[in-house]
Amino acid sequence: MPLRPDPRTIITRPSPNIPYFTPQQPAIAGAFRGKNKAPKVFTPVKIRDLQLVNRIGVSPMCIYSAEDGVATDYHLVHYGQYALRGPSFTIMESTGVVKEGRITPHCLGIYNEEQRKQLKKIVDLYHSQGKFIGPQLSHAGMKASTLPLYYEQFDYPVDEKRGGWLDNVWGSSLNKQFPYSKELSIPQIEQLVLKFKEASRAAISECGFDFIELHAAHGYLIHQFLSPLANKRTDKYGGSFENRVRFLLEIIQAVVELRKELKVNFPVLVRISASDNDESNPDSWRAVDSLKLAPLLVKYGVDLIDVSSGGLTEAKSPKVSQSELARRVKSVVKDTCLVSAVGGIFTGKRAEELLEDGDCDICLSGRGFLKDAGIVENWAEELGVDIQLNMQEGWPFGKVWTK
Ligand SMILES: Cc1cc2nc3c(=O)[nH]c(=O)nc-3n(C[C@H](O)[C@H](O)[C@H](O)COP(=O)(O)O)c2cc1C
Repeated sequence: MPLRPDPRTIITRPSPNIPYFTPQQPAIAGAFRGKNKAPKVFTPVKIRDLQLVNRIGVSPMCIYSAEDGVATDYHLVHYGQYALRGPSFTIMESTGVVKEGRITPHCLGIYNEEQRKQLKKIVDLYHSQGKFIGPQLSHAGMKASTLPLYYEQFDYPVDEKRGGWLDNVWGSSLNKQFPYSKELSIPQIEQLVLKFKEASRAAISECGFDFIELHAAHGYLIHQFLSPLANKRTDKYGGSFENRVRFLLEIIQAVVELRKELKVNFPVLVRISASDNDESNPDSWRAVDSLKLAPLLVKYGVDLIDVSSGGLTEAKSPKVSQSELARRVKSVVKDTCLVSAVGGIFTGKRAEELLEDGDCDICLSGRGFLKDAGIVENWAEELGVDIQLNMQEGWPFGKVWTK
């Protein structure tokens, strides 16, 4: 806990990590300030070299507000809310590694210079607050060129007249639900592996992001390779489990190589749909498949498995809850890899329960943060814990300095 400095010695120092004035923070918002033992949710945790002050992160959430894949001031304000408050890190929304890989015409991209320049502004704000942020790199596959979900229409195609690209939509295999989507050839797949690597290189070395999350969930391209529900290929990327996981593992391998090339030991996170929510159907991706995949992810250098579910088809047989899926993945990887749980974690008590039971190492919240950017402060209050706030917003509450 930082001691209040002698007022005669104070010089307001600017944070060194940002091109405009904002005061250097004496401590990081969201860090535990109490004297007693912290509840698990407010204990620090390390993801590779990143030291997180607590175990709460912002789950990736598309806000469908980009212009040609470029972030605007809206993004700075939206993500800025979380930089100033308590979560120790934020996973930025699904961000296309190529133009045609965006989910909607208003999704972010990271495939050109202007996009990267604007993203760096968000990263700078995070770093000025001692906070971490990484993009969720993705390719939507057959679900590309669809309507933003704020129209409450799932996977609805957007044609060329309305800014879409239905003539340039590509998935793992042909699919009746997306009749315009074409099957990727092997050279195209190889190109995409390189695009994920290029996007990761730009994210780390140009934008200054702290980590990469690969989006292998929710029915988007990588998931379309993993699940037999969408992967009907007969080449080396289809058929057996080993063939279906090949695309993901090749991407991870390419991205992990960058640690040496860039001399930055950045963490790699992978979000999976741990089940297609059709567990009684052996032709779906099931929890058992995720338990087989998890050790491979660890072997290939993944630091955190972000456990989600579904997204390819409507849930059919009784669903296994996402926290139960996280628990199962954690029980397989044990201490070799971190696991995050997400979905309906709306109270500090619930987060603490999951962490204490060893179901996961980190809790993510999505809608909780949309409703209330200060949710971490509320969880702290609920658990009777004193946490650090940032200077500008924390001093009226006596949450910056100690006497
Ligand atoms: C508005 C919104 C946008 C989302 N966009 C993404 C996304 O870009 N990538 C992703 O993996 N999940 C996305 N999700 C799913 C969330 O990350 C999260 O897993 C889900 O909302 C469940 O967590 P919650 O109950 O805390 O909201 C989105 C969810 C919401 C509500």
